[in-house]
Amino acid sequence: MKMQGESTGKTGVAIIGCGYVFDHYMTTAWAHPEIDVRGVYDIDLARSAKVSDYYGFSIYPDLQAILDDPAVTLVLNLTSIEAHFELTRALLEAGKNVYSEKPLTTDLEEARTLFRIAEERGLVLSSAPCNFLSDSVQTMWKAVRDGAIGKPLLIYAEFDDNPIYLMKPETWRSRTGAPWPYIHEYEMGCTFEHVGYHLVWMLAMFGPVRSVTAFSKVVVPHKTDQPMHPADTPDFSVATLDFVSGVTARVTCSIAAPADHRMRVIGDEGELSTDTYRHYQSPVFLERFSQLSLNARKARSLRLQPLFGRGFGVGGRVLPFVRHWKSFATMRANAAGKTSFFKKLVAGAKRREVGAQDKMLGVAETARALRMGEPCPIPPDFILHVTELTLAIQGAGTMGSAVALTTSFVPFEPMASTRADPRNYRDSYSPGFLAKRMDGFIERLHQH
Ligand SMILES: NC(=O)c1ccc[n+]([C@@H]2O[C@H](COP(=O)([O-])OP(=O)(O)OC[C@H]3O[C@@H](n4cnc5c(N)ncnc54)[C@H](O)[C@@H]3O)[C@@H](O)[C@H]2O)c1
Repeated sequence: MKMQGESTGKTGVAIIGCGYVFDHYMTTAWAHPEIDVRGVYDIDLARSAKVSDYYGFSIYPDLQAILDDPAVTLVLNLTSIEAHFELTRALLEAGKNVYSEKPLTTDLEEARTLFRIAEERGLVLSSAPCNFLSDSVQTMWKAVRDGAIGKPLLIYAEFDDNPIYLMKPETWRSRTGAPWPYIHEYEMGCTFEHVGYHLVWMLAMFGPVRSVTAFSKVVVPHKTDQPMHPADTPDFSVATLDFVSGVTARVTCSIAAPADHRMRVIGDEGELSTDTYRHYQSPVFLERFSQLSLNARKARSLRLQPLFGRGFGVGGRVLPFVRHWKSFATMRANAAGKTSFFKKLVAGAKRREVGAQDKMLGVAETARALRMGEPCPIPPDFILHVTELTLAIQGAGTMGSAVALTTSFVPFEPMASTRADPRNYRDSYSPGFLAKRMDGFIERLHQH
């Protein structure tokens, strides 16, 4: 059966940059056969040779060979952040559509320049992160639109990514042996690298931000003995976002606190929550507030024992996911590359427990829109807004004050398959047996 949003045909794609994140893209590349990888290129020829050997891709000897290849419609730019601007500009000027890893650029004016070139040439420029297209976010988005939490008021988002300096990051390797570029990650900063994952889903669901008040600081000065340039990039930030729609958000990033990637949207009738952006099918919980659920969480045991607490409505119930044409890519076993049974077993466990992203989904949606002549699903003004916010939060410093945004974007809708889903999460919510019967009893408990 063909799902809404699906299209036929193939798109010729070249991939530039064969480092650590390349292998992340490959974990779900098998699920996107319409992405016809024509070849790969890296200035480090050993890396392009390695991934060519592992995945069977052709190698482009240099950038010019990609620019000259008429079979390449779209280029996936997976290079290091500092290379993004010059490379993307060269690609656009040569008439290639581009999908770039995040952040698009390190400077807002550079980002504006790229979109100007793309517009002048009638090209698509798109960018990661694409996690707002995940089943989890699309499900949360639909629940908000269904009125399941009433009027949305607050968003709390965490991006504590563990004290990685204690976790031997110098030993981390991708599947094809690319080292995790930990010094570079410290130099760029966790906010610059990560806050976009939360910004995209908040902005997609609630529209543009009017102003941001942020604070950023180095809280772990001695992350490594290796020299860093610069050595003082913030490794902690917290930002409060004032949305034009009236919603208020607080987002925190660090590589100092233990891992916590929670996403919560709180309304005047309930709360939506999920454990992480990093799993595209992370279960989404809806709690429609009741006297029982709000009072029950005062009890320590009900807070500390989630299974017990859920019986009283604390944390709510799991929503069935909305699905789209590529939902299956998230959970099915990886079919790419040569790997042993043991490695497949470990990869399966990691995919279930640690994270399952489909980074290729943004490329697939961009390529689909190109083939069908539709607007890019990750619009230019949206990417500019994400870029400006990212830079403002990272650059806030310890004396940060409110910054009015100079960019904005036209709010857009969830995916066609989400819009077409006939269910209504508000109407189908059942508070459970206890909540229906306890309200009067709880009122009596309050009469001390
Ligand atoms: N490492 C991660 O966990 C991770 C996760 C998500 C996104 N990203 C993003 O992915 C991008 C790449 O990160 P990475 O971790 O793979 O870095 P990396 O250093 O492992 O790989 C980057 C690759 O790009 C190549 N390169 C650099 N400049 C080039 C140029 N001008 N032409 C051709 N090749 C060039 C390098 O030789 C290197 O092999 C960054 O934007 C990063 O923010 C990284």
